[in-house]
Amino acid sequence: MGKKLFIESKYNSFKKTISIDGDKSISIRTLLLGSQAYGKTFIENILLSEDILNSIKCLKKLGIKIFFKKKNCIVYGRGLNGFEYKKNIILNAGNSGTFARLILGLLVKSPYYIKLVGDESLSQRDFERVITPLQRIGANFKINRKKTLPLKIIGSNFTNPIKYFENRGSAQCKSTIMLAALNSSGETVIKAKKSRDHTENIFKYLGIPTKIKKNKNSDEIRIRGQKAFKSFRYKVPSDPSSCAFFIVLTLLSKNCELKIKNVNVNQSRIGYIKVLNKMGAKIKIKNVKKLYGERQADIVVKSQPYLKKINCPPNLSSNLIDEFLILFLAAAKANGVSSFSNLSELNKKESPRLKLGSKLLNQLGVKTKLTKDSIKIFGNPGLVTKKTINIKKFYKDHRIFMTSVIAACTFNSNFKIDDANSYKSSFPSFLNIIKELGYKFKFI
Ligand code: S3P
Repeated sequence: MGKKLFIESKYNSFKKTISIDGDKSISIRTLLLGSQAYGKTFIENILLSEDILNSIKCLKKLGIKIFFKKKNCIVYGRGLNGFEYKKNIILNAGNSGTFARLILGLLVKSPYYIKLVGDESLSQRDFERVITPLQRIGANFKINRKKTLPLKIIGSNFTNPIKYFENRGSAQCKSTIMLAALNSSGETVIKAKKSRDHTENIFKYLGIPTKIKKNKNSDEIRIRGQKAFKSFRYKVPSDPSSCAFFIVLTLLSKNCELKIKNVNVNQSRIGYIKVLNKMGAKIKIKNVKKLYGERQADIVVKSQPYLKKINCPPNLSSNLIDEFLILFLAAAKANGVSSFSNLSELNKKESPRLKLGSKLLNQLGVKTKLTKDSIKIFGNPGLVTKKTINIKKFYKDHRIFMTSVIAACTFNSNFKIDDANSYKSSFPSFLNIIKELGYKFKFI
């Protein structure tokens, strides 16, 4: 078990402009595509979290030279299928489900077996969802009965373009097949339930032949494979999922105001802002511009004395997937009973997040009603808990850790939270910002 964080109960008032680390999804995609481009790719403001550092280590093992100075990164791409590596290498993706799944898409032609491993949490997660379509493309796997890591992949010379239906609303599954399509001859057709569309945006930005037809609930993506593309420049915007913690902290505090600049406000990522505004928040998105194929803007938020209950639209699930925990906390402090449904994917994250999210609220004294894919939260705006709250056994899930810290800053009680290093997988400056906003904590 890692060290614990002790955070004292304290109400604070702040008026600040803060900067949030680079977007995790986009940082991983720019690295992967930089590795497949020809020549020198420059990535500015890359996220330097543990997930990204593990991704960089793996790409280096595959023969890609990568250098970085602070948050600026240079990737020496070797072109499509240009990886060069020794036999029997092991790639360790650490905690990163996104890297572990997406890299498999780029290995469909690998001449030798490559072993893919991850940490304890990643080793519990399902890989069948990407293995099955990758087998149809031509890759071969050695895998255990549960279809979890560790696994071995070997590619084949003959990779087929497939027609693939992605029906979970998983951007990871969709993107894995999009990356595999780069190495398949002919046209790959993907019909995908709506999910974050950064891979589509960056494919278009790079001039990879991609046609997209947007329908109401799904998109049809057609990719022509085996077309080389040039190296590129990219500046990664701030991660909206990381911003969500501080937006909710501001809303639930008194007399606070926060501005966050240059945030990725891609429509497929800011569903939580719409939900919070429906609950009565007045979060503003200002100075919207389109850069590198993505929408960027500044976000301004003020404290909101009362939030209303929400009946969260089930079709937003994929859009909110990384923000549910922090939304649950907002609902716990809202007036009335909120409900969230269509959450079966939430238990398949770094931890069973639906179950543990409910448990966390119960520990705070908030009543919940849980089913296997839904939760009702009995909001209680005036709730204060005086005893010290101990948060433990959460599989080191970074988002549970950060949600617990925000709970500590908004409930009048002291918190002890286990595995105080877990936030580093996605948001390394999280605790620095907590400190910058005036909260006190120590490691015990
Ligand atoms: C991600 C997609 C989501 C999300 C994860 C990042 C991505 O996972 O939860 O944090 O970058 O594609 P799923 O696509 O599996 O839902």
